[in-house]
Amino acid sequence: MAVKPDHRPTDDPTDDYVIDQGFSDYTTAEHAIWHDLFMRQSHLLPGRACNEFLEGLDGLGVVADKIPDFEALSKILTPATGWQIVAVPGLVPDDIFFGHLSERRFPATNWIRRRSQMDYLQEPDVFHDVFGHVPLLMNPIFADYLQAYGRGGLKALHLNALPLLARLYWYTVEFGLIRTEDGLRIYGSGIVSSFSETRYCLENNTPLRLGFDLDRIMRTRYRIDDFQETYFVIDNFDQLFDATAPDFAPLYKRIAALPEVNPGAAVSHDRLITLDR
Ligand code: PHE
Ligand code: FE
Repeated sequence: MAVKPDHRPTDDPTDDYVIDQGFSDYTTAEHAIWHDLFMRQSHLLPGRACNEFLEGLDGLGVVADKIPDFEALSKILTPATGWQIVAVPGLVPDDIFFGHLSERRFPATNWIRRRSQMDYLQEPDVFHDVFGHVPLLMNPIFADYLQAYGRGGLKALHLNALPLLARLYWYTVEFGLIRTEDGLRIYGSGIVSSFSETRYCLENNTPLRLGFDLDRIMRTRYRIDDFQETYFVIDNFDQLFDATAPDFAPLYKRIAALPEVNPGAAVSHDRLITLDR
C-alpha cells in the first residue's frame, strides 16, 4: 500500500468507506518508514507533549517496530474508552467522518507516506492518524469530546455551519496546546506528528498563543500549508469539553455576523499567553 488509492471505493450510498487495513500487505520498507517517524517523534515528545498523550501512546502499545495493526489497537482502546479504530482509504466525506466519530469509531487512513515525504504531507497518512490521534482517545474526557464533536458535525452540516465548526477541530484536535504545572505542552495531533512544528509551536516567538476562546476560534481562519500563526491554549480537557457542551446554533448565528480574523492577526480582548523563559 505505498500509493494512496482513489478515495471512493464504490458509489453505494450506504457505504461507510470502511476497508480492511490490509495489515499483512505492508512491506518491510513501509514498516521502516513508520519506525523512523516513530523514533524521531518519541525522542522529541517527552517534556513537549502532554502526559495524557504520552500515557496513551504507551498504554496502546504503539511501538517503533511496525505500523500498528488496527484490530490490536481496538482490543486495548475499546475496553478503555469504548472507541475503535476503523481503516479508511484516505479522507472521507464530512457526513461519513462525523458519523463514525459520533459512534466512537475513529477512521484512520491505512496508507503510509513515502520517504520523500518524511517532513511534509498534504493529507493524513497512518502515522498522522494513528500516532497523532489515537493516543488521546485513551483519555476518557478527550474521548467524550471527540464523540461530541462528531455529533456536533452532523448538526453543523444541517445548519450550514461546517466551516465554523471545522475551525474548532483545527485549533483543538489538530493544533491544540495545553497549560500544565510544568509549562506549555502539546496535545494537537497535527503537531505531535510533525517533527518541525513540535519545536516551533512551543519555542518560536512568532506565533500568537491565546487562551482558549470558543468565539475567537470560530472567527479565526487557519492555514493548511505552513506552521500555524495562532495557537489556542486550554487549561485542561474538562475546560474544552464544558465550553463546547452548549448548543452551537445561536453561536453560529452570532459568529457568522462578525468579521473573520486572519490566521496571525491579534484582536482586542485577546488573552495572550507568553513563553516564560
Ligand atoms: N455543543 C455542540 C453543538 O450543539 C456540539 C459539539 C460538542 C461540537 C463538542 C463540538 C465539540 O453543536
Ligand atoms: Fe488529523
